[in-house]
Amino acid sequence: ARVVALVSGSGTNLQALLDAAADPSYKVTIAAVGADRDGTGGLARAEAAGVPGFVVRPKDFADRAAWDRALAGVLDGYRPDFVVSAGFMRILGPEVLARYTVVNTHPALLPAFPGAHAVRDALAYGVRITGATVHFVDEGVDTGPVIDQVAVPVLDGDDAERLHERIKERERELLVRVVRRLATESWSIEGRRVDWRPRRG
Ligand code: GRF
Repeated sequence: ARVVALVSGSGTNLQALLDAAADPSYKVTIAAVGADRDGTGGLARAEAAGVPGFVVRPKDFADRAAWDRALAGVLDGYRPDFVVSAGFMRILGPEVLARYTVVNTHPALLPAFPGAHAVRDALAYGVRITGATVHFVDEGVDTGPVIDQVAVPVLDGDDAERLHERIKERERELLVRVVRRLATESWSIEGRRVDWRPRRG
């Protein structure tokens, strides 16, 4: 399967996908890496892996709808089978979502702690177990059907950075596993439930 990854930050989730895709048995090609700003770690990791990178900056467009249309157009050029949002900090618009299946990784056990400060919020709430979720993206913020999750303990003395690093160790494994399944199995979504069936033949 051909995948385009969207990143905004350091790109360690992307790196896990790049490393996995380097093995032909993984059956996933990262066709390109897109970012919402120049100079992100994710773009540098793509370049180091010889994967094309692109930037579609919201500030270059009159409004979100124009940015959404522009991103959809760039994605069309790479012909992805699906799109992986790996630490992409923008809400994808209706143009992109109408054309592509998008999966996102989130560092909390949705529906708990949606939004851009999930790790800080989980720590502040005092939960003892948090984790990561990979889900289909819908028009909401972190509200699409859950594909898979992994639990991660909150340890005494954790601060947001230490907890996030512990989550990311498991999150990267989860993302690689889910992307492989999306590339090799068929799935259907009934309401909010994702049902898998192995691809015949
Ligand atoms: C990940 O934990 C992702 O879930 C969250 O931000 C982090 C991005 O990390 N949205 P990286 O850029 O993949 O290192």
